[in-house]
Formats: sequence, structure tokens, C-alpha cells
Amino acid sequence: MEHVALFSGMGGFIKATDSLGFNTCWANEIDEACCDVLRLNFPNTKVSQSPIEEICKEDLKNLPDEIDLLTAGFPCQSFSVAGGATGFEDDRGKLFFEISRIISQMKSPPKVVLLENVPNIKIFDQGAWLKVILNEMRFAGYWVKESHAAILSAAKVAGSPQIRERLFIVCCHKNNFKSNPFNFSAIQPNRLSNVFDIIDRTSQKENDYYLPDDSKYFSMISDIAGEERSKKLFQIRRTVARACADGVCPTLTANMGDGGHNVPFVFDNFGLRRLTENECMKLQGFEPKSFIWPPNTRKKVKLKMIGNAINVHLVKKIVKEIKTQLLNCEIEDDRRKYYKMALPA
Ligand SMILES: C[S@@+](CC[C@H](N)C(=O)[O-])C[C@H]1O[C@@H](n2cnc3c(N)ncnc32)[C@H](O)[C@@H]1O
Repeated sequence: MEHVALFSGMGGFIKATDSLGFNTCWANEIDEACCDVLRLNFPNTKVSQSPIEEICKEDLKNLPDEIDLLTAGFPCQSFSVAGGATGFEDDRGKLFFEISRIISQMKSPPKVVLLENVPNIKIFDQGAWLKVILNEMRFAGYWVKESHAAILSAAKVAGSPQIRERLFIVCCHKNNFKSNPFNFSAIQPNRLSNVFDIIDRTSQKENDYYLPDDSKYFSMISDIAGEERSKKLFQIRRTVARACADGVCPTLTANMGDGGHNVPFVFDNFGLRRLTENECMKLQGFEPKSFIWPPNTRKKVKLKMIGNAINVHLVKKIVKEIKTQLLNCEIEDDRRKYYKMALPA
């Protein structure tokens, strides 16, 4: 099964789909450091570093004739409250429309498209942004309605101990399906694992992870930590220290790359420290032992990419269901190029 990834970042969608037997034939991403990471970790994928706005038919001519799945976690800043909620007014928000433009330039439209972004798209102005997205995808030839746009939690669905909710939208193309039968509620949730299964408090980390006892952030966190310090993670939000719910990590964000205080903190046997890059990767569902960073990649660059990524465990749950409910159901009947699930009983 062939997969194309747009806005690929450090390859969260590629990691998830590859592990489910897809071949990611082509990926696009503007950021050079991300492209280096993609090329090292996914040597079978052709990585294009052009701005998506500049991709044309010629760039796509060597793609396989049939693409089963296209994924796109398009830039979210303009759709989030923290980013000012400027939506499609903002140039970053307008990048969404590049997805349908790219599809129109492909030899044939991908059978299934999986979109990902922040939940606010479904919430803001009673779902006005979501309506724009659904209409655009319908115009591109896809079956999709509101029930195919679900907000899923990495903790509740994938059992990954991070508070991370994301909006996922599954679209099925009319060339291949008679309707969109995708049903998010068929996804079976995993049991929630504890954040301390991932965070190791018994081995000492490098010095620069620890807050000096006389630092401002050490005092702010120590003041609120109390007796519960061994059960929780902590974070600094603007000028306030906050304790997280027991056993889970707060949402990891791209801001982690802007400075150490944006990374969650933990009390370990040696002091109060930031989570390491490897711990953050695991919280996003990446396995550090099988992931290659280009030599000399700075910690802040890694943290930004990790914070921007999707949770791989969560995407695996969705893509597995896309395979089962949609792509594995092709019927061997040339006269009817539809999928079994989409046919009336
Ligand atoms: C939310 S991140 C996607 C992260 C990805 N899903 C992952 O798992 O790592 C959005 C990505 O879009 C990329 N991007 C932003 N503007 C772009 C453009 N004009 N062309 C191509 N990629 C762009 C950013 O560099 C960023 O990596």
C-alpha cells in the first residue's frame, strides 16, 4: 500500500504507516533539519524540501499510479487559541488549501486522506473552520462529513500518558468508495500506561537537565510540589508553576525548542530536572533506540520537532482502522471498483 506524507515534520505519520505495512513513496517538508531526519530514518522515501506551494505536476510524475493513503498534519498555529485564532486569514492557515491542490496534480487522487490538526478547528465559531475544510475536501472529490472528524486523545485512545488531543478527519474518494463508511468508534482504546513507566528517576542525567536549587523555576515548582512531588510532573506556564494530573504528562509543544522552561519537569532521585529528549520522544510514541538524529543536532531543534509531531501510537490506532475498514476491503470484481464496506448490504 502506497502512502504520501505532506507537512511531514520528523515523520510521525511515516513511522506509524510504515509499521503497518505501507510504503511511504513521497514526503514533503519545508524545514531542512526535518528533511535531514526524514532522509536518515526513511531511506526508501523520496523527500522533497520544496515549499508545498511550489510543488507542481512535474514533481509528482514519478509517484505510483495509485496512492492508497495521503496524510497531512498541516500547520496549526493559526487555528490554535495561543496562535491568535486567525484561521484561514493567516498565510499559515491558507496552507491547508495546498493539500487539495496537490491532490489535483497527482495522476489519480489518493483513495483515503487523513488530516490532522488542533481540536479548536472543530470548536471555534461552532465549527466554521471545519465546514470550510469539509467543503474543500468534498470539492476535491471526497466523501466526508462531520462524523468523520473526531477529536481523539492520545491518553484515552492509545494509552499514551500525555494529555494530547487532536482532531483527525478521514476522507474517502468517490472513485473508490460509494460513501464514507469510516467509523471512529470502532477503535478499541488501550489501557493507559503511567508516565513513570517512561521516565526513569533512578539514573542521573547530564547536569544541564537539572535546575540549580537557587533558581527561580526551582523555587516556583518546589513551592507548589508538596507531598505529591513523586507522583506528578510539573510545568511552567508563562509566569506560573503548575502540577499535572497524576501519572500523565502535559501536552508537549513546539515551544519546547524555545527554552528549557517549556519542557515538563520531574523530581528524580538527584534533583528537579527537565524531561530528556528521549523521554519526550517516547511520550510521542517514537522509540529513541531505533531513531537516528543527524550528528550534532541541537537539543532545542530536537525538542521543537518532537513537540510538533503527532503521537505515533495514536496515529497507528487510526491507520490500522483505515486499513481494516477501508483499504483491506477491496473486492476482486473489475466491474465494480468500490470497496466492500462501502457497498449496501
Ligand atoms: C504540525 S507540523 C507536522 C508534524 C508531523 N505530523 C510530525 O509527525 O512530525 C507541520 C509541518 O509543516 C511544515 N511546513 C510549514 N510550512 C510549510 C510549507 N510551506 N511547505 C511545506 N511544509 C511546511 C513545518 O515545517 C512543520 O514541520
